[in-house]
Amino acid sequence: MVGAVQFGVLAACVVLFVPMGLAGYHLSRNKMLFFSGALFITLAVGVHLTPYFPSISSFFISSLVSSSSSSSSPPLTTTSITSGVGLDDRKSCISFLHEISWDNVKEIRDFDEGLVAENGNLSNLGENWDWEKSRGVIECGFQKLGRSDASDLLNGSWIVVAGDSQARLVVVSLLELMLNRERMEAIRGDLFKRHSNYRAVIEEIGVRLDFVWAPYVLNCSDLLGELKRDGRYPDVLVVGSGLWHMLHVTSPFEYGLSLGSLRRSAVSLLSISSGLGNDGSVRGSVNSVPSPHMFWLGMPTLINSMLNTEEKRKKMSVVMQNAYERELHESKLLSLSGGPFLLLDIRSLSRKCGSQCTIDGMHYDGSVYQAAIHVMFNALLIESQQQL
Ligand SMILES: *[C@@H]1O[C@H](CO)[C@@H](O)[C@H](O)[C@H]1NC(C)=O
Ligand SMILES: *[C@@H]1O[C@H](CO)[C@@H](O)[C@H](O)[C@H]1NC(C)=O
Ligand SMILES: *[C@@H]1O[C@H](CO)[C@@H](O)[C@H](O)[C@H]1NC(C)=O
Repeated sequence: MVGAVQFGVLAACVVLFVPMGLAGYHLSRNKMLFFSGALFITLAVGVHLTPYFPSISSFFISSLVSSSSSSSSPPLTTTSITSGVGLDDRKSCISFLHEISWDNVKEIRDFDEGLVAENGNLSNLGENWDWEKSRGVIECGFQKLGRSDASDLLNGSWIVVAGDSQARLVVVSLLELMLNRERMEAIRGDLFKRHSNYRAVIEEIGVRLDFVWAPYVLNCSDLLGELKRDGRYPDVLVVGSGLWHMLHVTSPFEYGLSLGSLRRSAVSLLSISSGLGNDGSVRGSVNSVPSPHMFWLGMPTLINSMLNTEEKRKKMSVVMQNAYERELHESKLLSLSGGPFLLLDIRSLSRKCGSQCTIDGMHYDGSVYQAAIHVMFNALLIESQQQL
């Protein structure tokens, strides 16, 4: 009798968890709705069966609540492991996001040295990167989003990207993903006016994208202060700078101070904006959780011998770069150390793409920034799912 009940429960779990796991891999909004629907039904069934079968409650608790269900759990939990990553493991997926590698990188030749960041004619090596086939990556099911999935995700969002030329290259990669070729070519010139802000509106999906020229961290703090003062809260905020400071100020200590000030601005912006409800405007799935989602755009790996001026080669040494990196980690700006910003690790991505991917040792091939965009998308998906 008890054996039959157990079999029935096992069957119910397979029927429910397998589609849930699959839904977790494909993340359009319909599928996420399906995912939450399945979860609801699971819980409803669980609640109704619990009085009849005491060990069911311990099963649901171990598979839905415990953070590591892999060891010393009842045999039934293997169902949820083989069908994908459980709800609580999604958060740990963040740590696998940068397990990306490049292959077949060929020499980049087709552009004028020194003009790289200004005219935007980086040759794009395109689809020559992918996530590594490690166990974590496979279980987390990361994916490169196509134009339509990206549109679903960002529908109705306001995105602000602030920083130096690295941030501008991220904007280019983002727009390349969202726009067709003709429109991209048409705006390329505007986007690359030196040291200026840029706004793109993609009417079809109600996306507004602002690039704010912010060469120093203090400029980023100022921006956050303005947003807070005006009561305007972007859905996604990407900021990052450091190269200008390293070249023109060359003081890790002062850099650390400005990072501390940025952290305070960000925490204060977050605490106010998350207290507000939705304002009833068009909302995509990014908007279902408190915003802004904040990302820190890390500095690239600098290849000293390739830097294009003597001053850069002297001031932007490996030692200096490491000192700046240390300040970043000590500032507690990043979520790794409890801060508000999730790191988009351009340093690691650019290092993996390697010296073939850059002409000036500082600005990299478009595929590096494209990979960063996909890391960001997958992080947004993880954060949205966490909230279901
Ligand atoms: C950049 O590319 C555009 C279009 O492909 C071209 O018209 C322009 O001359 C290029 N600029 C440089 C500096 O090569
Ligand atoms: C964006 O969202 C609106 C409202 O939810 C919806 O009507 C529209 O079809 C969506 N557009 C895209 C491209 O997904
Ligand atoms: C950035 O900050 C520096 C130092 O505070 C300031 O001199 C400069 O005008 C600012 N630039 C922009 C674009 O806000």
